[in-house]
Amino acid sequence: MNDFKIIRNDLISLGLGKGDSVLIHSSFKSMGEVDGGIQTLVDAILDCIGSTGTLLAPTLSYEYVPQTNPIYNHVDTPSCVGAVSEFIRSMDGAKRSIHPTHSCAAIGDKRDFFVCGHENDETPVGENSPISKLPKIGGKVLMLGCFFGFNTSMHGIEEKFPVSYVLSEKPISHTIVLNDRTYEKNYYRHSISKNGFDQRYDRLLNVMDVNRGIIHGAQSILIDCATMWKTALETLKKDEFYFVERRVTQ
Ligand SMILES: CC(C)(COP(=O)(O)OP(=O)(O)OC[C@H]1O[C@@H](n2cnc3c(N)ncnc32)[C@H](O)[C@@H]1OP(=O)(O)O)[C@@H](O)C(=O)NCCC(=O)NCCS
Repeated sequence: MNDFKIIRNDLISLGLGKGDSVLIHSSFKSMGEVDGGIQTLVDAILDCIGSTGTLLAPTLSYEYVPQTNPIYNHVDTPSCVGAVSEFIRSMDGAKRSIHPTHSCAAIGDKRDFFVCGHENDETPVGENSPISKLPKIGGKVLMLGCFFGFNTSMHGIEEKFPVSYVLSEKPISHTIVLNDRTYEKNYYRHSISKNGFDQRYDRLLNVMDVNRGIIHGAQSILIDCATMWKTALETLKKDEFYFVERRVTQ
């Protein structure tokens, strides 16, 4: 069997199917050698979800848009969260949501539903973020070969609750450079670390079931977003600090 078929079959076994909207967090190297590289992985996902499906990737850019120089160029600022996300962002037909630090790229049937409107938010994973829209239409998150804690949806859940530790106290002005115009907009940043906490989003696995499997050698998890949001919000109601750990300073 060639790598395309192996990956597609592994994705189906994990629970991905026709019409799915799926956001992928990934470590491509965890898959080992893949004939055709990232293109083969993306082709297999697109084949699996079909023409009614939508593939999304976080194209987060906080590393390139620091608070000390908060300039985001919608076309040129790359993703800082892996080669697969950068690959999806640059595909023909893909569109990126407008956000200085927490944009996402999407390709497929519901692309515009996901990416449009993010520019109206003032926080990283607010209600118009593509990530916050996933649970509304039966979307899924695929963690492919990477640490489960790198699950950006958890920030959306923290913002929605809202927990006290997630956002900066004040917004700061960011420069947004689009193809046809440049403007200033105030954004709150995520400030969990500055507020004295470490993320423990891996604890979600203590409170909900997920599909686990191997995709071309990579340990992977597929999460149903509606269940994740509901379970995590209920968990926060019982303990606002369940998904973080207070940092112990020496
Ligand atoms: C940090 C992280 C991305 C590192 O994973 P990795 O497997 O080491 O690196 P990548 O996924 O970027 O894959 C790199 C490989 O992609 C391939 N690649 C890189 N650029 C490419 C390109 N332009 N075209 C095609 N393939 C490319 C190469 O094979 C490269 O390996 P090499 O550097 O040995 O040549 C991963 O551990 C991780 O954390 N992923 C999740 C990130 C995330 O979603 N975070 C969100 C919350 S903060």
